[in-house]
Amino acid sequence: MKEKWWHDLIGYQIYPKSFQDTNSDGIGDIPGVIQRLDYLSDLGISMIWICPIYCSPMMDNGYDISDYTRIDSVFGTNGDLKKLIEEAKKRGITIIMDLVINHTSSAHPWFQEACKNPEGEYGKYYILRKGKNGQPPNNWRSLFGGSAWEKIEGSEYYYLHLFTVGQPDLNWENEKLRQALYKMINDWLEMGIGGFRIDAIAHIKKDLTCGNLPSDGPDGLCSGMRYFRNVKGIEDYLKELKERTFEKYDCFTLAEVDDIPEERLEAYIGENGYYSTIFDFCHCFHNCLDGAWKGRDKEMLLDVRNRVFERQKKMEGRGFFCNYQENHDMIRIPDRFLPKEKQNFYSLSMLPVMYFFLPGIPMLYQGQEIGMTGFWREHIEDYVDLATHNNYQGYLEQGMTKEQALEKINYTSRENARTPMQWNDGPNAGFSDGMPWFAVNPDYQKVNVEKEQQDNGSLLKFYQKLIALRKHCVYQKNWVYGSFTALEEDSDQLWCYMRCRDGQRLQVFVNMSDEWVTTKGCYDGKVLINNYAALSQKAGCLLLQPYQAVVLAVES
Ligand code: BGC
Repeated sequence: MKEKWWHDLIGYQIYPKSFQDTNSDGIGDIPGVIQRLDYLSDLGISMIWICPIYCSPMMDNGYDISDYTRIDSVFGTNGDLKKLIEEAKKRGITIIMDLVINHTSSAHPWFQEACKNPEGEYGKYYILRKGKNGQPPNNWRSLFGGSAWEKIEGSEYYYLHLFTVGQPDLNWENEKLRQALYKMINDWLEMGIGGFRIDAIAHIKKDLTCGNLPSDGPDGLCSGMRYFRNVKGIEDYLKELKERTFEKYDCFTLAEVDDIPEERLEAYIGENGYYSTIFDFCHCFHNCLDGAWKGRDKEMLLDVRNRVFERQKKMEGRGFFCNYQENHDMIRIPDRFLPKEKQNFYSLSMLPVMYFFLPGIPMLYQGQEIGMTGFWREHIEDYVDLATHNNYQGYLEQGMTKEQALEKINYTSRENARTPMQWNDGPNAGFSDGMPWFAVNPDYQKVNVEKEQQDNGSLLKFYQKLIALRKHCVYQKNWVYGSFTALEEDSDQLWCYMRCRDGQRLQVFVNMSDEWVTTKGCYDGKVLINNYAALSQKAGCLLLQPYQAVVLAVES
């Protein structure tokens, strides 16, 4: 594969609202990110993906954009962003922005015009349809619950919103709309950003021919997913988008796309794919604390391993996945993969080793490196996220009591990953001098950056070592371009793989269980990383302690 500048990036996702506040309004801001750049640089990352910071009424925390050209004053100014780009560049860090072009906010002037005159020019920027017998055009359910259609007051028209009512979907069939989006994208690239994380892009093409579908829930609605995700013909848009924008700037693009059939993967992320990379979603639906996986943490990790390895084998050096374990839409990994009583340094440090050395771009989410977790709320009002409230209502409608519904929300709400960053043990964990927009996890006196910086055996220091190893000049090419081979696949307790290139063999061993496990095969090599002080061997086999994670190198 031809080498590209972004192949060896190590990403860090910032949820700006919760990262660092500098003006005491309780909301994180761009100057806060600038203030913490040295921390990120010491951690070793080389790319920051910053969640949406454009003007927005914040109905979906910035994923509802009302002006694509300006930074929301709550986060700072366009000038602040420019400064961030420059300061990051000085530290070898590239900034990528979130690009939300499946929908805008309902407060966007285009939509305001569309509502005034649905049959006018801006009506064609959105997906507007007349209702049928006083009902919405079809019974699709929004991805955040309730009907995907909302009536435009005073007209016969409904607009489509796959997400909240405040996020009307754009009409990609309209050439004029597409041109306006391309211009906006190019303007940001001109400013010097390194690329984009592209939101919900799999949904830009809709098949509206289906009419009402058989209901699949007590609400009488239907998911409709196959009519609005990766719909045939979407490739024409993706190709054009790439040609008119990204390609001209050789920028890095990371798309939120799931469920692409194997035979189409290369078209998406191969050498000349529509995007540089896409997120690998295959581990996202595992949550041991809820439903199917409750109490089955070992089985769950095994299932995750099998899916991840299968995806890697299919890709076979033809393209790069973006490998991650946490983001702003999912509960944090300690809570997702481990019961509370099993969360300790060893179990928390083995989790990143599973994915960090796989082929692809590794991505961290703020706070993951210090082991942040969610916490239990007493009242549903303590949550802000609309999707969380919709889910809560849905659980009540399914017949759960308020207590049961709140318990489920406490286990599963994505907002648990959005608590303010825990910098130190001072007021509000050093996040803000004001009243944080969302409560800080009360465990911040135990779990915080400053404490972990002072402890050589901390999780933070371990992440630092992982990143340093990924970037080490002797091994980096192998981590980026080496072949991938699964090891010890018969084991239901081990997650092991090997990366090989030019006679160099890098072997990764993770014991996912809380018991000692012996490898079947014999292995040797120089220890590059170990989350324990020692590594035991017997007759050439490795004797791995509970949750032990080790990387060994062999040169031939
Ligand atoms: C983002 C979510 C957001 C949704 C709608 C997603 O995939 O990650 O946080 O709510 O798109 O824009």
